[in-house]
Amino acid sequence: MSNLKGKHIILGISGGIAAYKSVVLLRLLVKAGAEVQVVITPNGKEFITPVTLSALSGKPVVSEFFTANTGEWHSHVDLGLWADAMVIAPATASTLAKMATGVADNMLITTYLSAKAPVFVAPAMDLDMMAHPTTTRNLATLQADGVTIIEPATGELASHLVGRGRMEEPEKIAAVLDSFFGRNHDMAGRKVLITAGPTYERIDPVRFIGNFSSGKMGYALAACAAARGAEVTLVSGPTELPDPPGVNTVRVESARQMLEACEKAFDNTDVAIMAAAVADYAPRHYADHKIKREHDAVEAIELVKNPDIAATLGARKRDGQLLVGFALETDNAEANAREKLVRKNLDMIVLNSLADKGAGFGTDTNKVTVITPESATAFSLKSKNAVAADILDCIIKKL
Ligand code: PMT
Repeated sequence: MSNLKGKHIILGISGGIAAYKSVVLLRLLVKAGAEVQVVITPNGKEFITPVTLSALSGKPVVSEFFTANTGEWHSHVDLGLWADAMVIAPATASTLAKMATGVADNMLITTYLSAKAPVFVAPAMDLDMMAHPTTTRNLATLQADGVTIIEPATGELASHLVGRGRMEEPEKIAAVLDSFFGRNHDMAGRKVLITAGPTYERIDPVRFIGNFSSGKMGYALAACAAARGAEVTLVSGPTELPDPPGVNTVRVESARQMLEACEKAFDNTDVAIMAAAVADYAPRHYADHKIKREHDAVEAIELVKNPDIAATLGARKRDGQLLVGFALETDNAEANAREKLVRKNLDMIVLNSLADKGAGFGTDTNKVTVITPESATAFSLKSKNAVAADILDCIIKKL
């Protein structure tokens, strides 16, 4: 648990019987050297006393917006800025619903809404509540908002029924946080090349062939890899996104320019991730002057095949280099992705399908399956930042 040392963690506790396990979690985090601020809901205090929690954390427990006798205001904004991570364990059905919809009627939810750090929730409730479509929907919303769900276990519940809904054990929750902080520099010393966005293939000075890629997926990967210590070169087609901090961003327009920038960077690269939606064809001729509308018909625009950047890099890949492609599919998704994996000599391919709502072009979320020659790992719908972290985890494992 060495990664927890010196980290600022908010431990949110809501009102469920599993709150007794939060005491163990608190002790584990403090023992590992973390500074922990407990924020408990009014119902949480029915299950566990603030005295126990403040004694273990060495800090007064925060629960109310004001201290009753002095009127002192507790700033959820300051808390949100202080934290390196926030973990809510147990997270009851009611707390999850409030988080998903922004019902800020207690200090735990206002702190969540102000938190700038990654948030983790460990749900705990009875099996019927856990299986209810409302809870499923709320968890999906939170996941899409970037919250990490620490899945509940199956076993005997407080009701003595057996099913899914037991809060994950404190040791496992602490391990999730430890590995999250361990990620922070797990790409240090690695040189990573990432492509992002569309390419524009000019027809005349005012028209082009392009596609709907916003660049969000590739930029999320670049920012995430840089935050994890990698030296990142991002070769981006035209997008409206700002350069990610700490990333060497090279702006290009066409597939040929993207290929040239990638070839320049590739030899000095450990990992290359091809997230761009490269136009497969470009006009054979570029018209120097705007093609006039007055013509009754425009003669056909002849198209020629663009170079395949991923396949070009795949052909010159040397031992020790890892080449990751993306596959954007509408049908026969896995079979098509596997065909591209082989044809382009990739080590891994990230499949996203336009058949999945919230996945693919333009959205802030994505749903991917990471495919290697030996495996296929499906992830749920998440924010593109969280998807980027999952993809980098798979890459680190493969390295
Ligand atoms: O940018 P966003 O709005 O966030 O959307 C993200 C995304 C949907 C664009 C992204 O997640 C994605 O799927 N990118 C790849 C899209 C694509 O072109 O897929 P493809 O199946 O046609 O291509 C397969 C692979 O070959 C890709 O890695 C692609 O970058 C690469 N390729 C394709 C054609 C070409 N001429 N050169 C290439 O390098």
